Amino acid sequence: MHSLHWKQQSIRPLYTTALSLPLSLLLLLGLLAGPATADAPYHTDLDSYQDGILGVEPNQTFSSAPLVVAPVYQINTFDAAKIDVSAESAYMFMAGRMPGLGWGPSIVSSRDLSLIWADQHYGGMAQATNTFLFQGERVLAVFVDDAVRIISQSYEELYVVHPVGNFSHWHPDSHEAMLTDDDTVLLIVCPNWAVDLTPVGGPAEGRFVANCLVQEIDPVTNDLLFEWTTLDYFTVADSVASYHDEGVWDFAHMNSIQKTPNGNFLISYRHLSAIVLVDGRTREVIWVMGGKRNQFADISPQKTNRKDASAAFGWQHNPRVTGINRFTFFDNYRLDNGYCWSGRCSRGLEIEYDPVAKTMWLLNEWPHPQKVISASRGSVQRTHTGNALIAWGQNPSFVEYTPTGDLAMDFQRGQILTIDHGIEDIVVYRVAKGVWEGRPPWGPNISYVAAAGTTKTIYVSWNGATEVDRYVLLSSASQSDLDGASKVVAQSPRNGFETKFAVVGYAVGRYARIAALDIHGAILGATPAVDTTTGALITLDYSVTNVFVSAGSTTLHDVPSSAAVSVPSGTHPTKPPAALKAALSGGQIAGIVVGSVVGGCLVLIGIAVGIVSWHRRRRAQMHRMPHAGTAAAANNSAQQQQQAGGAGDDDAAQRLLENANEYGLDSFAVRNSTDSDGTEVYEDR
Ligand SMILES: *[C@@H]1O[C@H](CO)[C@@H](O)[C@H](O)[C@H]1NC(C)=O
Ligand SMILES: *[C@@H]1O[C@H](CO)[C@@H](O)[C@H](O)[C@H]1NC(C)=O
Ligand SMILES: *[C@@H]1O[C@H](CO)[C@@H](O)[C@H](O)[C@H]1NC(C)=O
Repeated sequence: MHSLHWKQQSIRPLYTTALSLPLSLLLLLGLLAGPATADAPYHTDLDSYQDGILGVEPNQTFSSAPLVVAPVYQINTFDAAKIDVSAESAYMFMAGRMPGLGWGPSIVSSRDLSLIWADQHYGGMAQATNTFLFQGERVLAVFVDDAVRIISQSYEELYVVHPVGNFSHWHPDSHEAMLTDDDTVLLIVCPNWAVDLTPVGGPAEGRFVANCLVQEIDPVTNDLLFEWTTLDYFTVADSVASYHDEGVWDFAHMNSIQKTPNGNFLISYRHLSAIVLVDGRTREVIWVMGGKRNQFADISPQKTNRKDASAAFGWQHNPRVTGINRFTFFDNYRLDNGYCWSGRCSRGLEIEYDPVAKTMWLLNEWPHPQKVISASRGSVQRTHTGNALIAWGQNPSFVEYTPTGDLAMDFQRGQILTIDHGIEDIVVYRVAKGVWEGRPPWGPNISYVAAAGTTKTIYVSWNGATEVDRYVLLSSASQSDLDGASKVVAQSPRNGFETKFAVVGYAVGRYARIAALDIHGAILGATPAVDTTTGALITLDYSVTNVFVSAGSTTLHDVPSSAAVSVPSGTHPTKPPAALKAALSGGQIAGIVVGSVVGGCLVLIGIAVGIVSWHRRRRAQMHRMPHAGTAAAANNSAQQQQQAGGAGDDDAAQRLLENANEYGLDSFAVRNSTDSDGTEVYEDR
C-alpha cells in the first residue's frame, strides 16, 4: 500500500481514507517531487556552520509569508526520547531580530523546532519573553519596543506597560518582562542618579549612575504596588564593573526580577555579580548572595564529594526559584565569549542554600556540550518534566538536559563567535518552554510559484496557529467552486512553518485553495484562492465547510499525502570544531586574549582595561537607554554629547571594547580570587 493514510499515531484519533482510487495513483506519481516542506533543511555539520557556510545569521524566507524570516538551525543533538515535549512544554518562547526585519517575539515547536509564530515588526529591541497565566488566561509577555507587552493567544496586545509614578518618563529596561501570580507586572527602570563617585575614584559631583529599580505594576489600573531602588541598599563601591567617567555608569545592572511564592523579590545584578532577596513588605534586604556583600559560604565540595565543585558565580542572569531555598540561573562567570578554550566556562547552575547557616552549595550544573563562555545574557528553566533548558545568551545556542544529566538537545540559531564579533541579533537572551494555543484572527496564507515542467507548486503557512495538524489542497476550474470533498486533490501534514504542495499540473484546476485541519479533522480556516495561471490571490467570500467523503465523517477521498518531517538527531559533537582553535592560535584574536598561566588564571584584556577610560560607548543606548524626558534629560543629553566621536581604529582590543560597550559590557574588571569572607566568589580569569 502507498502511504496514503493520515499519520499513524496511536495517541490520537486517526483519519481514515477510502480505498485507493485510480485518480490518486495518477496524482501520487506527480505529488511531492521533493520533500513536502518549504522550510530549509536542518544543518547537522557543525564545522561548516561555524565556518559560516550559511552566513552569520543563517536565515530563511518563505514564499507564503513575506513578513517572516526564520533561523536555519544547526542541530548538534536532538534526542526525541529525552526532550521535554509534554503538553506543558510544547512550545519554546524567545525573542530577537532576524536579518532584514525588526525585533519581536517568536514561538517555536518543541517537537520539530519549526517556527510557529513570529512578529518581527517592532523597531525597538526585544529581549525578555515568556508565557504566563494572567487573569486566568494564557498570555505571552515580552519586552519589545520600549514597553512590556502582554499578548493574548489570539495575538492581541492586551496591555502595554510602561514605568509609572515618579519614573514614568523613563524608558523601561529590556531585561525583564515578568508577570506574577498576583496578575501584576514586574519591570526594570534605570533612571540616572547623581552620586558621589569618590569611592571608586570618580568625582564627588556631576556624574550619574544608572540606579535600576524594580516596579510592580497593576496593568489594569497602572497602580504602583511595589518599588525598590538599588541605591537604597547598595553603593557604587559594590560594583564589580570597573568605573568609567563618561556617560552614565551602569554600576549595578539589574537584569532579572521574580516575585517569589512568599511575596519577596529575587533580583539579579550582573555588575554586582550578586543575587538579592528583598522583602516584599518591608523592602528590606533578606540576603545577598555573591558579589562584594556576599553573605554565604560556598560549601559545595562537602555537599557533592567533588573536590572541584563550586557554586561561585559571576555576571549572572535569570535566577528563578525552583523549590524551597533553591533556584536556577545562568552563570556567565566571566566576560568573554565563544568557545571556552581554557579556564572556567559558563554554565547553567542550580544552587541550594541554608538561609540561617548562610551556606550555599551547588545542586546541579549544566555545562555546554562543547564548552562555551557567554559574555552576556542567558537563562535556565527547569521544564515541566524537570529537564533543564538553557539559553546561552550571547552565543545563539539552546541546550537541554534530562533530570539525570543526559544531554537531550543542543542546537544553534547562529555561530558561536568570539567576543570581538560583537553581538549578533540572533543571540538568545532567554528561552523557556510552555503551553500555547495560538488562534490568530487572520487566516492561513497561500502562494503559487510557477515551476518548470508540469509541476504546480503551492505553499501554505499560518503564522501563529498552533492547532494545525494537516493541510488539504482543493482545486477547481472555477473560483466559486472551491469547497467540498470532490475538490480535494492532495493532503500533507503541516511540515514546518511552511508546507509545500508540488502536484502534477493536470491534477490541479486553474484555481487552488488550501484548508487547515486540526488533529480531529475540524477545519480551522482556509486560504484565499490562487490563480495558477497568473499567481494572483483571490479573496473568496465563502469558507471551506467540508473536505470529507460525507458529512460527519473524518474520511477523505483517497488523495496523495506526504510524510511528516522530523528533526535529524545531529552529530553529537563534544568539542568545538578543531579548525577554530587553529584559527585562533593563528592570531585571530592576538592582542585580545593573552595566554593562560598554570591554573587557568589568564588575563588578557589588560589593554582593554586601559582603554576603558577613554573609549566611550557610542551606541550604549542600545542596551541601557537613558531617557531624555524631564529634569534628568538635560544632564543626560550633556553626557551623550560627550560620548560622541569614538575612535575609528580597528585594532582588535579596541573592537572588543567597542562591541562590549555597545551592549553594556562596559567594564572588564580583573577580579580577585577570594573575597573578605574567604568565599570564592570571584576568581581570576
Ligand atoms: C541570510 O541567509 C542568506 C542565505 O539564505 C545568507 O546569504 C545571508 O548571509 C544570511 N544573512 C546573514 C546576516 O547572515
Ligand atoms: C499573509 O498574506 C497577507 C496577504 O498577502 C499579507 O498581508 C501578510 O503579511 C502575510 N502574512 C505573513 C506572516 O507574511
Ligand atoms: C515621588 O517623589 C516625591 C517627591 O520627591 C516623593 O515624595 C514620593 O514619595 C515619591 N513617590 C514614590 C512612590 O517614590
